[in-house]
Amino acid sequence: MSFDLTTDQLGLRARARELASTLVADNAAEVDRTEEYPWDNVKALTDAGFMGMTVPKELGGAGRSFLEANLVVEEMASYCGPTGRIVVEGNMGAISAIIHYGTKSQQRLAADLVLAGDKPAICITEPDAGSAASLMTTRADKRGDGYIVNGKKHWITGGGVSRLHLIFARVFDEDGSELGIGGFLAIRGEAKGLHIGAREPTMGLRGIPETEVIFEDLEIPADMVLMPPSGFKRGFADLMNAYNSQRVGAGTVALGLAAGAYRNALAFAKEREQFGRPIAEFQGLQWMLADMSVQLEAARALLHKAALSAGHNGSPFPDATLAAQGKIFTSEMALKVTTDALQVFGARGYSRNYPMERLARDARMFTIGGGTAQILRTVVASRILEQKLPQTRDGFAQLAEQAERDARLEAAE
Ligand code: FAD
Ligand code: COA
Repeated sequence: MSFDLTTDQLGLRARARELASTLVADNAAEVDRTEEYPWDNVKALTDAGFMGMTVPKELGGAGRSFLEANLVVEEMASYCGPTGRIVVEGNMGAISAIIHYGTKSQQRLAADLVLAGDKPAICITEPDAGSAASLMTTRADKRGDGYIVNGKKHWITGGGVSRLHLIFARVFDEDGSELGIGGFLAIRGEAKGLHIGAREPTMGLRGIPETEVIFEDLEIPADMVLMPPSGFKRGFADLMNAYNSQRVGAGTVALGLAAGAYRNALAFAKEREQFGRPIAEFQGLQWMLADMSVQLEAARALLHKAALSAGHNGSPFPDATLAAQGKIFTSEMALKVTTDALQVFGARGYSRNYPMERLARDARMFTIGGGTAQILRTVVASRILEQKLPQTRDGFAQLAEQAERDARLEAAE
């Protein structure tokens, strides 16, 4: 594994930086103020080929790696968090699940949408199933060749702007027996029974709506069922495996926000004078800036390692442990770095006339969305201990019962 970027990757990052530091930077405060989806930025991202970069070339994409997409994400997020998130969802999460698990026609459909600028929505969380996502109650009941989906999701990023939706639902056969968890594709505007509910008034990342998405007898034809490779029985594990790509992407948005805050703090510290000297000459601030640089380098190395693990771990997606470690570290690092960078600005840091309070508000999200820092520690612990760590009250008892049943079956064979 090499951490050196190739000439091509350096060129890609330079192109991303050019767009990020001009149009995206110019729009950032306005996007935050108006809370409107940045369609101008989306058009520029699409024209630059940054939407659907990870889509294979035969489907019209650039066939780029998750690492390469994340180079673009970091640049965008260092000026505008919502724009970084659009690049994440235009290359990771739902689109990568469809590219790797979908049929040819599903791949074609999804590729065409993201290459035209759509940021797909991934619908997992429900009002009573957040961290406990596997306890979701949205159900897909088999009817003939297809399924009827009913239920309610909330906090869906892009609700009302995204067209393609990947919906996680509990699957039931016609006789009412439960089959597991599957993924179902629907296009807003075409699918009847997919409704957008209330929008959350959020602390930060205000350019992208977070809404409820409600399914009322949503008809999913057979060709819109995203069948996980191991079938519905282990469908949840397969879908979460694909989701590891988005966890690395979310960590990279946090990294970008922190990197943007640091860049501003560094420039301001050289410019601002107190006591007749630039404040950068005070050791108290020098050490703060040095600490920020250390944290950023460490976070970037960890996320790059996580992104590079895709395809090297028997899976086309980043390794679950590295993705969780990367997101924990970077999301917590971003809280500290954006707060310290705001401090360097003094009162100006607290003013909405400067970007520092926006970067800090935006960064606040990443220890929550996409798996909280607490739940991701459980993911890491389960893997380093090589032990299932059920979180329900009767989880360990159920595991023991299952082990006994398996042993009895084995003995009987
Ligand atoms: P809860 O699960 O209720 O957790 C509350 C608190 O309890 C947290 O601190 C949590 O860490 C802690 N906790 C819970 N269980 C445990 C445990 N076992 N051990 C230790 N601590 C625990 N979801 C989607 O499906 N699609 C999206 O596009 C999407 N976008 C989002 C965008 C934003 C801006 C945000 C904020 C959220 C988004 N989410 C999305 C939802 C997000 O994934 C959930 O918020 C997250 O999984 C946590 O669920 P919750 O909010 O219900 O918190
Ligand atoms: N990558 C790969 N596999 C994963 C995974 C991931 N990120 N998360 C879970 N799995 C697999 C588990 O390994 C397990 O497989 P196994 O049976 O072979 O051990 C299976 O999925 C079920 O996971 P488990 O941890 O036993 O499930 P649980 O019922 O205790 O649920 C989670 C815990 C997975 C829901 C919880 O850890 C989680 O990730 N919550 C956050 C949800 C989230 O990120 N939402 C974001 C919405 S945008």
